[in-house]
Amino acid sequence: MHIETLSPFAARVTGVDLAQITPALAGDIQQAMDLHGVLVFPGQHLDQDAQIGFAQAMGPLELGFRKIKAGAHRLKYNELADISNVTPDGEIAARDHTKIVSNLANQLWHSDSSFQKPRAKYSMLSASVLPDFGGETQFADLRMAYDALPDWRKAQVADLNAVHSALHSRFMLGDTHYSPEQIAMFPPVVWPLVQTDPRTGRKILFVGVHACEIQGMVLAESRLMLMDLLEHATQREFVYTHRWQVGDLVMWDNTATVHRGRYFDLGARRELRRATTREVQTSAEALALQG
Ligand code: OGA
Ligand code: MN
Repeated sequence: MHIETLSPFAARVTGVDLAQITPALAGDIQQAMDLHGVLVFPGQHLDQDAQIGFAQAMGPLELGFRKIKAGAHRLKYNELADISNVTPDGEIAARDHTKIVSNLANQLWHSDSSFQKPRAKYSMLSASVLPDFGGETQFADLRMAYDALPDWRKAQVADLNAVHSALHSRFMLGDTHYSPEQIAMFPPVVWPLVQTDPRTGRKILFVGVHACEIQGMVLAESRLMLMDLLEHATQREFVYTHRWQVGDLVMWDNTATVHRGRYFDLGARRELRRATTREVQTSAEALALQG
């Protein structure tokens, strides 16, 4: 396994075949993830079976938003999220198709499934069809974001808790067509704004679009603080931009980074697939997260 640095927190990994995952290789990848937060594996061209096999070796799989948006699925496994603008019958989706709003919501800075407990740990996104321009994916590291806060801000946020809601980003984009049953499937969850990564001991500023208020604060003030912190975390110097090639697999740690997709022409085909693991914590790790 050969690791080459792309940015202070992203790296490119070559010399591995993710279709031939072994426990030893999974362990090496987990260690590299602790160090980097984002790993790019070029030229993997995983089929659906291989992608699921690789993801399962990295942890228990998570269904994410598919829990509430059930229905026709284009992929072989419910555990693969269809990150595409293509309908189940293989056509490019009309701009007002319900699945397009997910594409657009992905263009807001977020951590996958931070709106649920347990949350997502690793996301593994594989590209199969790409548009001629646009559609990059950007990442920012929430450990670097914490470290770069001024001391007054560190003191201010030290003991705050943020409410994360699945539908906040959808409502922001005007997608409000959810039944009370669907809304009830994703009750908001609370995460400490500052966390300590149990594996590396590093502090994390856990923000993103799903964080929609801070407990115990006036709503408007708390929203502005969250927007300000997200802007800080995603300032240009901290961002790594991935320009996709077909066959790339990009893996990120949702507990230590945020990401967003960039603009692409919705009339051009873009097809990626994502498998996601669920965070598993020992009780000691869960306690450490509070600090
Ligand atoms: C995702 C995601 C962004 C993109 O798959 O979780 O946010 O660029 N994707 O498709
Ligand atoms: Mn995402």
